[in-house]
Amino acid sequence: MKENSYDYQIVRGFTFSALFWLIIGLIVGLWIAFQMFNPALNLTPWLSFGRLRVVHTNGLGLGFGLAGIFACSYYMLQKLSRTPLVFPRLAKAHLYLFNVIIALAALSLFAGMNTSKEYAELEWPLDIAVVVMWVIFAINVFATLVKRQEKQMYVSLWYIIAMTVTIAVLYIVNNLEVPVNLFKSYSVYAGVNDANVQWWYGHNIVGFIFTVPILAMFYYFLPVSTGLPLFSHRLSIISFWSLIFAYLWTGAHHLMLTPLPEWIQTVGIAFSIFLIAPSWGSVINGYYTLRGNWEQMRSNYLVKFFILGITFYGLQTIQGPTQGLRTLTSFFHYTDWVIGHVHMGTMGWVTMTISAAFYYMIPKITGTGLYSIRIANVHFWLILVGQLVWTVTMWIGGIQQGAMWKATDPDGSLTYNFLDSIASLYPYYKIRFAAGIVYFAGIILFAWNLVMTIRKSQEVKNQPLNR
Ligand code: HEM
Ligand code: HEM
Repeated sequence: MKENSYDYQIVRGFTFSALFWLIIGLIVGLWIAFQMFNPALNLTPWLSFGRLRVVHTNGLGLGFGLAGIFACSYYMLQKLSRTPLVFPRLAKAHLYLFNVIIALAALSLFAGMNTSKEYAELEWPLDIAVVVMWVIFAINVFATLVKRQEKQMYVSLWYIIAMTVTIAVLYIVNNLEVPVNLFKSYSVYAGVNDANVQWWYGHNIVGFIFTVPILAMFYYFLPVSTGLPLFSHRLSIISFWSLIFAYLWTGAHHLMLTPLPEWIQTVGIAFSIFLIAPSWGSVINGYYTLRGNWEQMRSNYLVKFFILGITFYGLQTIQGPTQGLRTLTSFFHYTDWVIGHVHMGTMGWVTMTISAAFYYMIPKITGTGLYSIRIANVHFWLILVGQLVWTVTMWIGGIQQGAMWKATDPDGSLTYNFLDSIASLYPYYKIRFAAGIVYFAGIILFAWNLVMTIRKSQEVKNQPLNR
């Protein structure tokens, strides 16, 4: 199949949408991080921490994360099936609809419309729009796969299929609600059932956005950008099926020591521990792919992103099952330790892998080299240092928080009140804010580098041929 029959416009459109929402989401993230040690800045309801926090999580999880996933999925789908998108106009509609939804989502959350279910905060009209958008995406995925010229389905395609099917099921089941007016609805579930469905959804929406499609990218872009074959296809397929088998059973680890029946909690713990195996199957596959070629960590600027990214994934998939154990969760739950866990994944694994995928795709699509490899290297170091300081600070702060909440005097009364514990964390919050600025500077360089790469390609195109 000829390269020029592939639809790269859509890949470009989603790439730049991702960068846009990344910057917006991070500005909001920095602002709420600043508010954490300057609570007087909760000036109006519109600028209150409670509203802005969801703008941050939705802007980055759905805006940045999903746009990055769509960009890379459309690219990998065409390349791996050796088939152009079957419905390019539908893909364009997908791009426009996606950006309208994210903009309306941000506005409605700013305005305080919120179902109060984490990662499912959008009200019902937007939920319907999300489902329509997802169906549009799924049609292109499956139609292109059906028409594929390449019989063999590489593991990345399996991950894309898993994401497409699972997110549809999760989103519809958890968002079943009864509308009372245009802006308000109530969940059809109540009490413990509601919590159970919500965290079955919550854990898996994180998994099927921040893990499954990111693994699809890792498995595709690491071999193509190093020129090295994947260490083991068999291991990749075993890891895939065991990850998919186990993932959907683990949501209850978010509800330890609650009224949820104990056996469901235990199932959650058991499957969480099981997950270490498939997760590390992918980590090991990545490391072994570089066997004998580790000098590429120095010579190929993309490899650093992939290897550090998968390393953070590996660390998180040990930390996750451990913090889900009853004894540890009773200490860490609600503390900043969990916030550290989240951001090692999002600022480390997810952002590093998506960055490298964009750095690979955009020069390929435009046919010119990257504007500046040096800037890409600076970007790497800034986000690495920013992320590490950010997360390690939160882990230490989380341990202090948990210890203060548990401390008791000899008469059994609590040693500290809640406000003491918050005020004692201010130094950590200040360090986190500073680390966030460093990380943000890296992201600005990333966006600038890609914009300049596009500009460079346009200048080359505009040059008269025989000059
Ligand atoms: C084997 C893999 C993993 C397991 C078993 C696991 C386990 C957990 C547990 C037990 C919690 C809840 C902690 C608490 O609230 O007390 C949690 C929270 C979270 N994890 Fe993981 N984790 C894993 C990997 C990941 C990865 C790769 C990401 C990607 C970024 C991630 C993102 C999150 C997020 C966003 C939350 C916060 C959920 C919330 O809003 O409460 N996790 N994880
Ligand atoms: C400069 C970088 C960042 C800063 C300063 C920042 C700041 C914050 C803050 C202050 C919170 C609330 C913590 C709390 O409630 O105690 C938060 C939560 C969260 N952030 Fe970020 N963030 C950054 C990057 C990111 C990125 C890149 C992503 C995703 C791609 C992300 C996803 C999330 C999620 C999912 C939560 C909810 C965690 C939970 O409920 O457990 N953040 N962030």
